[in-house]
Amino acid sequence: MISITLQVKNIAKEFNRKKLFENISFDADAGSAIAVTGKNGSGKSTLVKILCGLLEPTRGTWVLTVEDKKIPHEEYYKNIGLVSPYLNLYDEFSGIENLDFIAKIRRLQNPSTIIESVLEDFGLFKHRKKEVKYYSSGMKQRLKYCAALLHKPEILFLDEPQSNLDSEGISVVRTYMKQQRERGILIFATNDEDDLSYADAVIKLNSLNIEK
Ligand SMILES: Nc1ncnc2c1ncn2[C@@H]1O[C@H](COP(=O)(O)OP(=O)(O)O)[C@@H](O)[C@H]1O
Ligand SMILES: [Mg+2]
Repeated sequence: MISITLQVKNIAKEFNRKKLFENISFDADAGSAIAVTGKNGSGKSTLVKILCGLLEPTRGTWVLTVEDKKIPHEEYYKNIGLVSPYLNLYDEFSGIENLDFIAKIRRLQNPSTIIESVLEDFGLFKHRKKEVKYYSSGMKQRLKYCAALLHKPEILFLDEPQSNLDSEGISVVRTYMKQQRERGILIFATNDEDDLSYADAVIKLNSLNIEK
């Protein structure tokens, strides 16, 4: 297993001078799974976006180290995969065109084997040539997983892992969650009790929303 650590210290986020959360601190290393829970609007997605490098926190630091090398925030995308409701696919492209495009952006060498294997795992191989605008919401969610896994990320972030998935889709996701935890770090935001059993640590956000 390669060495990966994510050290999160005293992260706080405010929107319009309203405190959403503060003092979020944890350390994760390869082999660990961290869950973020809290009611709707408590800031789960906001915390995930911050840790992915998509949003700046109001305070706090977070440092990702891979094989003793500190990764600059602007290069996080190389090491992370994200599956979330606010991530969009290209509707006019087919499933496989979406994945080919992402593989190209990520400069993956010989991506066809991994593309075929994730499409197969997520039951999309037979739909690969269909334009995404004709996909059901569950199929789109499955394709987001394929897209997030192509480069075998060291950290996988899942915001609402099960959204729109049927039991078959959930079971594939569970397999990948376990696998991710075996070879890297898994961080997921959820309110599902079953999901929580996959976590070593749970961060509970309790909607401070305190006016300063
Ligand atoms: N860019 C933003 N500007 C202002 N408020 C925001 C912004 N993004 C999120 N919020 C607010 O922050 C709160 C937390 O949102 P979110 O992180 O999506 O919560 P959760 O994922 O737990 O449901 C909500 O009240 C939301 O309206
Ligand atoms: Mg959310």
